Amino acid sequence: MEPVQNSGGALVTPPIYIQRVRELCDHYGIVLVADEVINAFGRVGGWFGSSELGLRPDIVTVAKGITSGYAALGAVIASKQIADAFLGTDDNKFMHGSTFGGHVGSCAAALATLGILEREQLPERSRQVGAWLLQRLREVFADHPNVGDVRGKGMFIAIELVRDRETRESLSQEVQLMEWLSDQLLQHGLICRADDRMEPVIQVAPPLVMTMEELDLLVHRLTDVLHVLGRRLDSVPARYAAVPLPAASAVPPVATPARSPSIAA
Ligand SMILES: Cc1ncc(COP(=O)(O)O)c(C=O)c1O
Repeated sequence: MEPVQNSGGALVTPPIYIQRVRELCDHYGIVLVADEVINAFGRVGGWFGSSELGLRPDIVTVAKGITSGYAALGAVIASKQIADAFLGTDDNKFMHGSTFGGHVGSCAAALATLGILEREQLPERSRQVGAWLLQRLREVFADHPNVGDVRGKGMFIAIELVRDRETRESLSQEVQLMEWLSDQLLQHGLICRADDRMEPVIQVAPPLVMTMEELDLLVHRLTDVLHVLGRRLDSVPARYAAVPLPAASAVPPVATPARSPSIAA
């Protein structure tokens, strides 16, 4: 399971679901695998989605953030019990290889990335800044007719789009909405995923080092895109554009991390 699920748009697994899955796995002897290919290394705040949400997996799969995407690398983290079963004994162990397993270039990129994440405390920053951004987007879109939900954790947030916020009427039948929206986002300088594998969402996953000023700009640009969407759907009242953004919430801004002098350092 994915602690904060990507498909469907930053769906945060509820605590009771996490507890019941663990209980079922324990009861039936099932290995619980956490897919943290997206979640891990700060994306959802903290080092892992599992630790953030109180999930105790037996195996964790990771990739993307382990090198910040600069080199291709995936890894599997396992509990001692599972790892020991693979290690076995001198004359009875699981032997397996892959051409690029333990690739030195990718591992060097991962070590450099992990060092920077640790030194600049980026997972913790993601937790704090993400909480601010989530609250800010909820405030800003509190009465937008086409925003059905704003959810997520850390720097992994989804804005769910609906035809009508009151009735929750879906936008999934709107012709070529995702293509149009992706284009609008780009035209407004935003690289976000517009995804409609469930209800249509705009996924927001900013760099963990983004400054508060840049995040403020991000919020403004998203507001502009949502306004254009409202005009396309004929659902945004004329007055909406004239209403200034509500004042930022009381969550204190978080300092930009001091930049590392160089990766080698
Ligand atoms: C949540 C999740 N799990 C697994 C994968 C597959 O990862 P990989 O391509 O490293 O095998 C992806 C790829 O996008 C993903 O987003």
